[in-house]
Amino acid sequence: MTETLERTTTSEGFPHLTETLHTPRLKLRPFQVTDAPRVAMFAGDFDVSRMTARIPHPYSERDAREFIAAGAVGKALAIVHANGVIGAIGLEAVDNSRAELGYWLGRPFWGRGFVTEAGRAVIAASLRWCPTLTVTASHFEDNPASGHVLAKLGFTQTGERMMRSIARDQDVRALTYRLSRPATERSPSSRLPRP
Ligand SMILES: CC(C)(COP(=O)(O)OP(=O)(O)OC[C@H]1O[C@@H](n2cnc3c(N)ncnc32)[C@H](O)[C@@H]1OP(=O)(O)O)[C@@H](O)C(=O)NCCC(=O)NCCS
Repeated sequence: MTETLERTTTSEGFPHLTETLHTPRLKLRPFQVTDAPRVAMFAGDFDVSRMTARIPHPYSERDAREFIAAGAVGKALAIVHANGVIGAIGLEAVDNSRAELGYWLGRPFWGRGFVTEAGRAVIAASLRWCPTLTVTASHFEDNPASGHVLAKLGFTQTGERMMRSIARDQDVRALTYRLSRPATERSPSSRLPRP
């Protein structure tokens, strides 16, 4: 895997997702406005949006263009397979030492290990440049596949809370997680708790 994630950091000191990562099967690159039709097609599927907190339903190409123009750059990377965007993965700053991992994949591509592969690359690159970063994540309780992805990535459950799903227009119980890493992978100054 070659990783060329830019070392630029945000004002909070987080790695900025502005360059391209390569994994065995995927390219993770910044979004382009030309991705909007495919983003709208996949994120417009209620079975995708209802598992996320922020994707509304219905979800139009215009929504996708706004996401790409306003929100995506630096926070999320497009997951690209065979030259087409199939999903998104991002790390969003929560405070100055913690970032929340988020992802979604178009339904035709579920179940092939793509998000796990993308997650490993984003986490590895981010921790290399920001070793003290605490990475958290969450998923709705009716989304065990996402819990399985997080377990494969090395996350452990920390609790649960109610979270808004915009697509469902309701609060849904969610399970919260934190990344645990073996001591050998942590820098001495890491703020991550011991697993
Ligand atoms: C959840 C999601 C990201 C998973 O992506 P993916 O690329 O299919 O995930 P992977 O193939 O890497 O791993 C999924 C794992 O969950 C397992 N799984 C699938 N459905 C499951 C279910 N209903 N219950 C338990 N495990 C399940 C799979 O078997 C696989 O595990 P395995 O590799 O040990 O066989 C994808 O389905 C998705 O985008 N869903 C809609 C949006 C979403 O949920 N985003 C995340 C919000 S927290």
